[in-house]
Amino acid sequence: MPRSASRFKDFILANTALIAPPHVPEISLHLADEAHDLWHRTEEELAEIGLPPPFWAFAWAGGQGLARHVLDNPQIVRGKRVVDFATGSGLVAIAAAKAGAAGVTACDIDPFCEAAVSLNAAVNGVAIAFNSDDRIGENLDADVLLAGDVFYDRAFAERLAPWFAQLSDAGMTVLVGDPGRSYLPRANLTRLAEYQVPVTRALEDTEIKRTTVWQFG
Ligand SMILES: C[S@@+](CC[C@H](N)C(=O)[O-])C[C@H]1O[C@@H](n2cnc3c(N)ncnc32)[C@H](O)[C@@H]1O
Repeated sequence: MPRSASRFKDFILANTALIAPPHVPEISLHLADEAHDLWHRTEEELAEIGLPPPFWAFAWAGGQGLARHVLDNPQIVRGKRVVDFATGSGLVAIAAAKAGAAGVTACDIDPFCEAAVSLNAAVNGVAIAFNSDDRIGENLDADVLLAGDVFYDRAFAERLAPWFAQLSDAGMTVLVGDPGRSYLPRANLTRLAEYQVPVTRALEDTEIKRTTVWQFG
């Protein structure tokens, strides 16, 4: 497993291709594709060589829907301080920067993400700050929190729902993109938009995921 930032970058460059996610074609990202080994390895095989599941190597449906919404409604982020929580590849953060945010911080606890976001931000000609701390529960110094595809795991969702509600109550705009994941909270959400997002059959067992952008509160 790579240990330094440059080795993370080398690993990403060797195992991905530059791809435009189908629902956000104006952004290019270093993503897994069938030509590379990463695509064909199971989570168990990756764990054996010390790699966490490469969430950063896919543009998840929730992220694609949320990025599309931000690009098509730039007033949500224009001139604002934005956090893209659980950024993965950095897709939503890059969309916010392209839409005119005053500053964007991408957060993710996966050590590969900082390198992925740095490479992907450079490809798209935007500047993104990165924070690798687990920030759940913190009062963020920002105007808008964006989170693409985060309600796929019960324990994670149970930590996120009260935090997102708390940030929204404190006056922050909190938007999530969600393709019907099992642990999306049911209460206190306002539907802003819905998209039919093309996804990878090998990951989602379907070719299109109906994806909703929700606002907390
Ligand atoms: C399904 S991926 C979504 C990535 C991206 N937002 C998208 O839509 O393409 C979920 C991400 O949540 C991140 N994550 C998990 N727990 C986290 C935590 N406590 N703080 C920040 N990120 C976390 C994972 O590392 C992963 O990158």
